[in-house]
Amino acid sequence: MRTTAFGPGKVIVLGEHGVVYGHPALAGPISRGVRAWAEPSERTQLELPDALTDSQRDALERAFARAAKKVKHPKVSIHVESDLPPSMGLGSSGALAVAIARVLLPPVTKAREVENLALEMEREFHGTPSGVDHTTSARGELILFQRGRAKVVTCPRPLKVLVAIAGKRGPTKVTVGALRERQARWPARYKRLFVEIASVVKDGAAAIRAGELESLGDAMNVNQGLLSALGLSSPPIEELVYRLRAMGAYGAKLTGAGGDGGAVIALFPEPEHAVVKLRAAGVDCFTSQLAGPRTL
Ligand code: PMV
Repeated sequence: MRTTAFGPGKVIVLGEHGVVYGHPALAGPISRGVRAWAEPSERTQLELPDALTDSQRDALERAFARAAKKVKHPKVSIHVESDLPPSMGLGSSGALAVAIARVLLPPVTKAREVENLALEMEREFHGTPSGVDHTTSARGELILFQRGRAKVVTCPRPLKVLVAIAGKRGPTKVTVGALRERQARWPARYKRLFVEIASVVKDGAAAIRAGELESLGDAMNVNQGLLSALGLSSPPIEELVYRLRAMGAYGAKLTGAGGDGGAVIALFPEPEHAVVKLRAAGVDCFTSQLAGPRTL
């Protein structure tokens, strides 16, 4: 058994929500994530991290029990540490599920088995997850994801995003559930929006493969408009999106479930200058490279 493992968080570059209905999404791993450590113990147990709400604690305990049962209760005690803010759209539960699955399973386990065990845990957190979060974390590469399948998307140029937090938001389960009710009530109208999002995802994937970052940025802006039409944006998100575009971003949009706040991503040729400015103005933000050649 491995003694330590990492599960990266993720950003959805294009296609959140549509992916729940079987449409494609583009998502990449970020530098922040969850690390898990396992050490021998009398019984299988998870040391719960501090600073969790009661409901997060309950969900984590149930998810861990579900995974431990699947792998027949190995005698280990697992400790986790995360530098991802929970419930912000950065895939903290998927990253946690992958880190824990990696230390619960033998080191030679196939990637697919890690993904299956992580999915068991994700079901406890999200109800009906599309699977994009834990798959992106487990693959560790920018992927085009659809109905459980993932294709790696490469970029000839460094593809870096700025990730900024627009404030607190509700749980993914609640936002996804409320959208499900709206689309069940007015299916034709909502289907048109999901189909349009799927086209934008395909355009975005082609732009990445060609290294056309301005075209990708434009696809992100259009996707943001469509997410707003789906009722998933809010004043704190819009304010940050417009601020980032005014700072020179090729594109900016919410990432993840959206709602009252959460994470926003922006595509800049060189995001580092914008990070310095935003931090000085008190905005919680960082950069991450999703694909392309890495400079040392
Ligand atoms: O906000 P997050 O990190 O939980 O991402 C949710 C992404 C959705 O597409 C809205 C849901 C899903 O299961 O894919």
